[in-house]
Amino acid sequence: MTENFLWGVATSAYQIEGAPENDWTEWERLGRLKEREVRCGVASGHRERWRQDLSFLPAIGANAYRYSIEWSRLEPRPGEFDTAALEFESERAGFLRACGIEPVVTLLHYTHPAWFWRAGGWENRDSVGWFRRLAERVGAALPDVRIWVTVNEPITFILGGYLGGLIPPGKKSFAAAAKALEHLLRAQTEAALALAERPSGARCGLAHNMLDFAPDRPDSALDRRLAYAGEALYNSALIEAISTGRMWWSFPGEGHVEFAIPDLPRATGYLGVNYYSRVHLRFRGLPGAAGEFFYRDRSGRGLTDTNWEIHPQGFDRVLHSAARAGLPILVTENGIATDDDRLRRSFLHEHTLILAHHLAAGTPIEGYFHWSLLDNFEWLEGFRPRFGLFEVDYATFARRRRPSADLFAALGRRFTGSRRVRAG
Ligand code: FCB
Repeated sequence: MTENFLWGVATSAYQIEGAPENDWTEWERLGRLKEREVRCGVASGHRERWRQDLSFLPAIGANAYRYSIEWSRLEPRPGEFDTAALEFESERAGFLRACGIEPVVTLLHYTHPAWFWRAGGWENRDSVGWFRRLAERVGAALPDVRIWVTVNEPITFILGGYLGGLIPPGKKSFAAAAKALEHLLRAQTEAALALAERPSGARCGLAHNMLDFAPDRPDSALDRRLAYAGEALYNSALIEAISTGRMWWSFPGEGHVEFAIPDLPRATGYLGVNYYSRVHLRFRGLPGAAGEFFYRDRSGRGLTDTNWEIHPQGFDRVLHSAARAGLPILVTENGIATDDDRLRRSFLHEHTLILAHHLAAGTPIEGYFHWSLLDNFEWLEGFRPRFGLFEVDYATFARRRRPSADLFAALGRRFTGSRRVRAG
């Protein structure tokens, strides 16, 4: 690990560079996106402009960069790895190092090769070996990478892809979700162990999306119970599993699943936390719909352009819960969709204030990654939400630095150098 607090920004491959063919391109072709006409295409045009974009990193005071590889480019057919794509990754990581930036590489950030789904995806037990093979090949191509995110948001992915039918593979089955969750966690454990065996002694973690949960009607015992259940299934179950090697996952009205992955604690070197918002749960008690959730503007800060509540106190709460894992923490994502850059600046101010309090109180946080470097393709909403410290003009692909990038740089000066982190 580096000496300094990691101060960086986060992106994912598909969201800034698209892909020729993967599960999302198929999903878009089938018109399954909320806005049917939208196609990700080349997204923010990053693939063609990657050097220019990455050279922004030192200019905004970052010393680390979290990004993902696109599995479908690296392994377009099962077991066949694309040499040029592997070389590209090695060149990219080398370029980052040459700029003084610590690469933090995500292996799986929502997208999969089309062949993976045709073979049954995460419901197929063989997915565990396929993912370990990916980790081995990418690990060998990037021998100097020391920090990995094996899987981005496993719980959110399983809920959206297997229960909500909102993202690929678009299922709505608890049995399928339970099976996929087990294979996904086994796969990431094996991948992490394979990476940790490398001479660089890599550290691996999961990026866990955490929400702050509240009862929609605070005086309703049923809403309170639902908020408690939401907290358990969305936030705590995974943290428990990382600490104990046992997963107990229950979804109100659907069922529960239990399994053991004894190596999970040993495979996990840190806990990644993605934090954006708070949700308010309201009990409905209908078959198949125990409750509903809402984003509400309870503090008058306004909702973001993805309609999420801006709620910095929730960041404080989730960091307290994350600390229960007893592991170092990386804030792997935190950010806001808005056209109003003043709002982005106040979001940054308020959330980094919480971060500073936690550091002062001794919470073992070793880094912060703002989402995102550039405006990009947002999974459910397309190109409308603007998350970037740099604005992208989608007609010309011109980049324009937003004033919030200056604030990010100024905050970075306060956070970096302020804390030494454990050697990896
Ligand atoms: C997170 C995702 C990331 C991005 C942000 C806004 O849940 O990990 O890819 O879409 O939300």
